[in-house]
Amino acid sequence: MIDLAPSILSADFAHLADNVLAAIKGGATIVHLDVMDGHFVPNLTIGPPIVRWLRPVTDAVFDVHLMIENPDQFIPDFAAAGANWMSVHQEACVHLNRTLTLIKEHGCEPGVVINPATPVETLTEVLDMVNLVLVMSVNPGFGGQKFIPGVLHKIAKLARMREERGLNFRIEVDGGISHDTVADVVRAGAELLVAGSAVFDGHDITGNARNLLKAANEAVPEPRLAGVIRT
Ligand code: DX5
Ligand code: ZN
Repeated sequence: MIDLAPSILSADFAHLADNVLAAIKGGATIVHLDVMDGHFVPNLTIGPPIVRWLRPVTDAVFDVHLMIENPDQFIPDFAAAGANWMSVHQEACVHLNRTLTLIKEHGCEPGVVINPATPVETLTEVLDMVNLVLVMSVNPGFGGQKFIPGVLHKIAKLARMREERGLNFRIEVDGGISHDTVADVVRAGAELLVAGSAVFDGHDITGNARNLLKAANEAVPEPRLAGVIRT
């Protein structure tokens, strides 16, 4: 099952609720909220109040992507504001096990994120604790960057590790997802697709979301065929 998670980073914040509802009308099921602190990444974005204001607008899953140092400090506030999923960067967490546990204790589904230069092997000991693994396909900090194709093998490797270990976390990809790159990430094994500029740029947010989802669903490997190829 493919889900589209529009990143509000590229939305028009003067019309945030309308922009989000337009993306949902186009089939998006998850709202991706990028939180940046100007330290872990070279940009600043939103805090818990925006999550709280947006919460009554939709029942869609709120997927909070924390690109911040010391995430433990803010996890309670984002949970209280209405986050459903919360993801932290492996690179930002000295005590990753503790941080993921804290997310769970606050009633959210925990996720872990890796930057393009971080190998999937760094996650071996936490894969059984998370509901999602987010593979960054750009260096985090800004919307509208170019997709890094070198991360595709990491998505495929995670899917293999999940199968081998009988786990069921979902695989999310974030950065540079567009009509040109979506088929490759889906074929590699990604199921949760974050897209900012490809959804919110231009005047037809609903159409952008619909077209991107359509392209993604058309790229889903047909299971029987995949089985034939493997044997
Ligand atoms: C990057 C953010 C992404 C970003 C995606 O640091 O985590 O969610 O907004 O934007 P696009 O889809 O434009 O690359
Ligand atoms: Zn993100």
